[in-house]
Amino acid sequence: MYDFYSDTKTKPSLEMRKTVLDCPVGDEQKSEDPTTTELCERTAKLLGKESAVFLPSGTMCNEISIKVHTQPGEEIIGEYNSHIINFETGGPSALSGVMIRAIHGDNGTFESDQVVEAFRPASRYAPKSSLLCVEQTANMSGGAIWPLEKMEEVATTAHELGLKTHMDGARLMNAVVKTGISAAQYSNYFDSVWIDFTKGLGAPIGAVLAGSKEFIDNAWRIKQQWGGAMRQSGIAAAMCIYALDNNIDRLAEDHSLAEIIGQQITKFKRVKTVLPVDTNIIIFDLDSSAPSAADIVKELAKKNILIGAFGERRIRIVTHLDVNPSAGEILIKELAKYLDN
Ligand SMILES: Cc1ncc(COP(=O)(O)O)c(C=O)c1O
Repeated sequence: MYDFYSDTKTKPSLEMRKTVLDCPVGDEQKSEDPTTTELCERTAKLLGKESAVFLPSGTMCNEISIKVHTQPGEEIIGEYNSHIINFETGGPSALSGVMIRAIHGDNGTFESDQVVEAFRPASRYAPKSSLLCVEQTANMSGGAIWPLEKMEEVATTAHELGLKTHMDGARLMNAVVKTGISAAQYSNYFDSVWIDFTKGLGAPIGAVLAGSKEFIDNAWRIKQQWGGAMRQSGIAAAMCIYALDNNIDRLAEDHSLAEIIGQQITKFKRVKTVLPVDTNIIIFDLDSSAPSAADIVKELAKKNILIGAFGERRIRIVTHLDVNPSAGEILIKELAKYLDN
């Protein structure tokens, strides 16, 4: 099976699994799990923040952050294609009672004047704008990287308007490896930020949310309230520590494979557009002469190749540590049968 559907499909390697055998554990709810504490301290340092908390998923990092930063009846601002708006089952409204104002960005990023436009000046009638969210890298915009200066501009504008800022850093480390800009530099402009260990980093469970000590104290209260507090979570945290030590630099391999696949797809006759391939995600649109995205996905699945259809004519392919260049060649050969004839 060549699974290019998502970098969430990675399976923990044997070496990663072995770290579980002798990791020290304790009661995480009481801050007595040494392995989880180590993971949180290391991630807080990596992100240049005072404190951090271990959570089961990236979705919980986003939703807890929204809960801490907002009050019911307020409004958050995010990009139209973002995970928070499209893939969290309306969590912001269900869990925090907030509305969302979507900015139509350019490939996942937007300008500071769009933040000003989306912001609602104080009014007796309007919801109060309270939080700006950005996604680094922008998943459904082809893993696009927010340039540092642009991030600084939008976050500074948001702070000047009195908003809090939050970064969904599910794939922040992809941006770090690609640009050489540190995770702390990117995170500097944000009141909360998290990274996911279950994507390109290859761990089976876990994300770490970071911010000021006060923010994390508040996040802990919501984690406890929502049943996210754990017991001997070192079992999962040990594999995340392994990912920090072993799986960051190698993201460069995923980026070069994605670039090669993207270049080949650009040459196919029945492909209309390929979004710029900044990191490990390739998104492209089929022209009207091609079979539908769903049909292509179905045909490739018969050959044990998994890719994703997002809409009638849009396909997403993601590279990660469980697919290699020869799998990439097989993928291209099979795709060519439908798109380059
Ligand atoms: C950009 C982005 N944010 C958040 C998430 C949610 O992460 P998790 O699957 O760990 O809940 C994902 C997952 O695919 C994602 O791509």
